[in-house]
Amino acid sequence: MSQSSPSGKGMRPSSRKVGILGGGQLARMLAIEGARLGLEIHIMSPSPADPAAQVTNHWLKGELGDLAAMTELLNRVDAVTIESEFVDPKIVLSAEAASGRQVTPSVRLIAELSDRLQQKAWLEKMKIPTAEFVAVQKSSDVENFFAQPNVSAGRGNRAGRAKGVVVKKRRFGYDGYGTFILRSPSDLESWLSEHGLTSAEFIAEKFVPFRRELAVQFAINARGQICEFPLVEWQARDSKCHWVHGPVKARGFDQLSARLRRALVKSGYVGMIAFEIFDTGRELLVNEVAPRVHNSAHYSIEGLYLNQFAAHLQAVLDLDLPRAPTAAAPGFAMLNLIGSSDQAPVLPMTALNEVFFHWYGKRDNRLGRKMGHVTALGPNGPAALKKLLKIEKKMRV
Ligand SMILES: Nc1ncnc2c1ncn2[C@@H]1O[C@H](COP(=O)(O)OP(=O)(O)O)[C@@H](O)[C@H]1O
Ligand SMILES: [Mg+2]
Repeated sequence: MSQSSPSGKGMRPSSRKVGILGGGQLARMLAIEGARLGLEIHIMSPSPADPAAQVTNHWLKGELGDLAAMTELLNRVDAVTIESEFVDPKIVLSAEAASGRQVTPSVRLIAELSDRLQQKAWLEKMKIPTAEFVAVQKSSDVENFFAQPNVSAGRGNRAGRAKGVVVKKRRFGYDGYGTFILRSPSDLESWLSEHGLTSAEFIAEKFVPFRRELAVQFAINARGQICEFPLVEWQARDSKCHWVHGPVKARGFDQLSARLRRALVKSGYVGMIAFEIFDTGRELLVNEVAPRVHNSAHYSIEGLYLNQFAAHLQAVLDLDLPRAPTAAAPGFAMLNLIGSSDQAPVLPMTALNEVFFHWYGKRDNRLGRKMGHVTALGPNGPAALKKLLKIEKKMRV
């Protein structure tokens, strides 16, 4: 971002141009919020039909690996951000050097946090509890780790004695693609025969017998002002986020949150960041860090006055952030609309009058593809979720 940009309280509407690298649904929701805030949003993506390209007049053709296009985008705007951590840091650094502008969050942190091994090292360095892990260089590393008793799934504590390891691709894993849960010797054997290990592409961690999965997000600006979003519970179906509800409480969360905030300030992180958390009933372990806006906070568009997309843009532009967004209702829930086939979806448009409906404008429906989401508000999270699950029954995505 342009470091000379005026920071702090005020913002003149329409005075700022923000570029987004990527054109998927996260970029689309950022662009829509950016427009609402009076920003001029520029999207770089491969096709004008991409979800985010459809909602702005300022579209630039470019794959994430296209140095010339990226440099061009950086030259056109006052600040630049990303929708996916899977960028090539070398290309971003070259575009930054050529344009004199920087991408936010910093490419150094994006690179560190998008590699699951370096992410684990970051968590340990910041004293944030996480499942015990090893770097995997060869097959015997997984075998030896599997053979070790799971006395403590999290370092320095007792998360349970469930057997098994979870092997994860170090880079480019998402929605369960790249995560392999091995609970038995035969799971291990078949995984090893399929992935004859020759490279250091994976990490392995102890299987954590969690009771529920939680998530929390923060927005932080360059002056270290941090806005903490509510703690939420979420559940996956077929390894993809199915629903989220909140706010929820968890024992030990205040201490974890303090550590997370300290880690963000210490690292100089800027922007939205999401943490996926395992709640074992005895402790909270951070499972994954996503240095960007995240599916677990889509509810915030209607559930909070300050949503994650607006907060991210405010952080990137170094505008002031509150300590926490104000809730628009006591409870909220979000449900993903995930493709079940390549057939056109059947959406009961009148039933959608009962919830907040978001459709991402993806051209093709596909099994497992995130096509949209719905949000409901209510007296508490479970009540809002109940409404969404009822509506879900009426549609075929
Ligand atoms: N160590 C673990 N123990 C138990 N379940 C796990 C473990 N790691 C991951 N999982 C399960 O797999 C899901 C996907 O793993 P995750 O690390 O979040 O990767 P990604 O979301 O990038 O696919 C998690 O949400 C969780 O349900
Ligand atoms: Mg995850």
